[in-house]
Amino acid sequence: MPNSESADLSFPSDFVWGTATAAYQIEGAVAEGGRGPSIWDTFSHTPGKIRNGDTGDVACDHYHSWRDDIALMRQLNLNAYRFSIAWPRILPTGRGQANRQGLDFYDRVVDGLLAAGITPYATLYHWDLPQALQDEGGWLRRDIVLDFQNYADIVSRALGDRIKFWTTFNEPWTFTWWGHVTGEDAPGLQLGARGGLAATHNVFLSHGAAVPVLRANVPDAQIGIVLDLNCVEPASDKPEDLAAASRFDGCQNRWYLDPLFKGSYPADMLALYGADAPDIAADDLASICTPIDYLGVNFYRRSVMAHGADLPPVNISRVSPPGRYTALGWEVSPHGLYDILSYVNDRYRPPALYVSESGAAFEDRPEPDGAVHDTERADYLRAHFAQARRAIHDGIPLRGYFVWTLMDNFEWAEGYSARFGVVHTDFASQRRTVKDSGRLLADVAGQRRALVAAALINNAGR
Ligand code: FCB
Repeated sequence: MPNSESADLSFPSDFVWGTATAAYQIEGAVAEGGRGPSIWDTFSHTPGKIRNGDTGDVACDHYHSWRDDIALMRQLNLNAYRFSIAWPRILPTGRGQANRQGLDFYDRVVDGLLAAGITPYATLYHWDLPQALQDEGGWLRRDIVLDFQNYADIVSRALGDRIKFWTTFNEPWTFTWWGHVTGEDAPGLQLGARGGLAATHNVFLSHGAAVPVLRANVPDAQIGIVLDLNCVEPASDKPEDLAAASRFDGCQNRWYLDPLFKGSYPADMLALYGADAPDIAADDLASICTPIDYLGVNFYRRSVMAHGADLPPVNISRVSPPGRYTALGWEVSPHGLYDILSYVNDRYRPPALYVSESGAAFEDRPEPDGAVHDTERADYLRAHFAQARRAIHDGIPLRGYFVWTLMDNFEWAEGYSARFGVVHTDFASQRRTVKDSGRLLADVAGQRRALVAAALINNAGR
């Protein structure tokens, strides 16, 4: 494997380069345009839940600055943008009459993207459930499937003439487990594995119910789901650490991949979860594994696991081997990206793969001359791009790469303290400054433009 500095970063000419964002993390304007409250409004306004008491009330004010933000994407040479649609903007109480102003907002954004030559990749659910649905039980209520299906129907009818790439859910593991098991994310419940697994099952059913609706409304749709997959390694060769790594792989990877691609939950995990396993009705798994067109992989770090007391009954303990770490204490492990892509490709053969998020939190600030020298983030991206390039070279059907994230934004329970952007956000003034990492991304994505131009010239010459 070439080292990251000398790595070949030339990508196929049709490779998709974008950044990813999520509605609650960037939009702000939480009480504008008829938007209803979401579980993240409630959670972030609950004292003690978010670092420094931050909320997404204003965030990056993208609701008002979307034009400028699209201009930034152009400046970065990006040809795609992964963003999420806020369910509570479309259906302020989760169901009923669609809110025209909410649809109009995304209508304008999508038109703006297309006019800039940027392909929209829409995610229907990136964690901002309408609070009214939470009040009825949220993801723990099986009938939420009908609400999600209805929401998917409304949005895809309105935008499906222009949005071809649809992702149903972002990271089901994260929001079901952190929201219903550890309580670190909204809605902040601590219900043990039983709660997390019940929520996950209803999320899966909602996904399965939405796919045919999206297909019917958008004939040439490309439909997928985004998972946060972990490259799991055992902390040692001891049998208890090997078993712990296998359980964590089962909890975070296989519990999601197996139902979606094989139509079954993994037997070892069903045995481990026992009575905590979800109630499964006859046709559930057939619906969950309705064929999709792509899988999005969010990758941030590898996970080195030892036997321990965390996440019972998974009983693991995360180990931090010597190495480089981001500001959030996440290990920098570029090879993990290659490893997880080949793991998924070898075992599940998805028709296409995207790196739907990858990036790093590091502290940075503009210098007096206005530059932001985020060398560590640029190194992180370069090394991960090289692993993506290696995956393509080895025949893995990787179609695109979305860097997390366009601009520093509201990083959930970390509030504004964790900066992941390739563009710096000054939250007081909403001033944006392209960082060195953004320049790197612009260079790498710009090569694609050069390749396309070269191909056109060659074709014209024939
Ligand atoms: C992912 C989330 C995304 C962002 C990054 C850092 O788990 O999908 O919204 O918070 O982590």
